[in-house]
Amino acid sequence: MAIIHDKLPLRQATSSQWLPTILEDFPAFLQDHALCEKKAAASAMAFVGRWPDREVLVEPMICLAKEEWQHFHEVYRVLHKRGIPLGTNDKDLYVGALLRHARHGPEEHFLDRLLLGGLIEARSCERFCLLAEGLADEDMKSFYTRLSREEAGHHMIFLRIARHYFPEAQVNARLDELLDKEAEAMMNSPLRPTVH
Ligand SMILES: [Fe+2]
Ligand SMILES: [Fe+2]
Repeated sequence: MAIIHDKLPLRQATSSQWLPTILEDFPAFLQDHALCEKKAAASAMAFVGRWPDREVLVEPMICLAKEEWQHFHEVYRVLHKRGIPLGTNDKDLYVGALLRHARHGPEEHFLDRLLLGGLIEARSCERFCLLAEGLADEDMKSFYTRLSREEAGHHMIFLRIARHYFPEAQVNARLDELLDKEAEAMMNSPLRPTVH
């Protein structure tokens, strides 16, 4: 397993062309980022709504939703300060491609959604690290430095829940498969000024 940025479990690093693409249209990137935080909050609450009987996930997912909601608010304030309106929901091709790998049986679906949730968090965090390293604007650099630290533990929330409900070997075997799918979805996504 390749180790990229603070032990994130990712198999393929983001292209060196991603950051220059972001910098070409940073306002569009900020709009997309705000929506990603909003979707991350909604997704965490969707876990609580869909699996309320899986008690071990309820507390951490409520906390995660609150943190992502706070991030949404912070990115919204950055937009507002710069006179950029909130964007409208755009299809996230990368997330769409990944979620198609979630199997249908109830147990398999639960495991896959947890692992895919963790991988999406890991990829997002890798990219916030790239912004923290590469941005010249001091305010934005410190904003993404803090954000990347706060995001750094999010993928582990999903993996810990998966390891609570499923045997270690089963989690590792499926994670191994989905790591390849994640790298494939990331590399097949067109370079745009977006988080994914
Ligand atoms: Fe976030
Ligand atoms: Fe997150």
